[in-house]
Amino acid sequence: MIIIKSHDEIKRMAEACRIVAEVLDGIRENIAPGVATIELDGFAETFICKRGARPAFKGYRGYPASVCTSINEQVVHGIPSSIKLGEGDIVSLDIGVYYKGFYGDAAVTLPVGKINERAGRLLFTTEKALQSGIEKAVPGRRLSDVSAAIQCCAEAEGFSVVRSFVGHGIGRELHEEPQIPNFGKDGKGPELREGMTLAIEPMVNAGGWEVEILEDGWTAVTKDGSLSAHFEHTIAITKDGNIVLTKL
Ligand code: MF3
Ligand code: CO
Repeated sequence: MIIIKSHDEIKRMAEACRIVAEVLDGIRENIAPGVATIELDGFAETFICKRGARPAFKGYRGYPASVCTSINEQVVHGIPSSIKLGEGDIVSLDIGVYYKGFYGDAAVTLPVGKINERAGRLLFTTEKALQSGIEKAVPGRRLSDVSAAIQCCAEAEGFSVVRSFVGHGIGRELHEEPQIPNFGKDGKGPELREGMTLAIEPMVNAGGWEVEILEDGWTAVTKDGSLSAHFEHTIAITKDGNIVLTKL
């Protein structure tokens, strides 16, 4: 069942989402060659706790950190470590916050120093795919209109969308119904309505869409070793459109 939130609930959710946006904004300035991903995790955790919030991912199904940091061919759920970012890498940062009863969830993929043209195009396209999905997330549309728009945008550039991880409803739980695939035909699934709150999160690979999980049980990587990017926003559907809650 998709849970419809009241105006008041969305206002409170917006506070959790604002903290997510602030952490992602702050973490940007810490991205540079030579920085270890565990340092980024420390920055985020300190920031979140100072705001009186809780990192939503830590302890979720046993996940050991506050942030997911996925480098290059890593798709999602990379675990922060002492491994340092290198010039020309791309790094995906995925952050969830719990604050006063509500969750917020967002991700960005950032360049480390100067990246090559293909990597740049992957980041640009994945963010554009997220944007085109968000544009479809309005009352009267069907859920798979969002999925189809994302897939279309990514594949138009010759990239592929990951199948085995999807977006989701969000609110009083980190993961609520519905699941939001980043692929599929439009015109299907539930009709979108005011008060739905969704985390839309395309993962786009430069090569094939297949992924596998590393031995740590978390890190998803592309099967062919190609680069992967991930952008995510938490949004609320309003009477005549939507608001992106995880944007400053
Ligand atoms: N944005 C991802 C999701 O919604 C991140 C979850 S990471 C986990 O599933 F550690 F919490 F699993
Ligand atoms: Co999510």
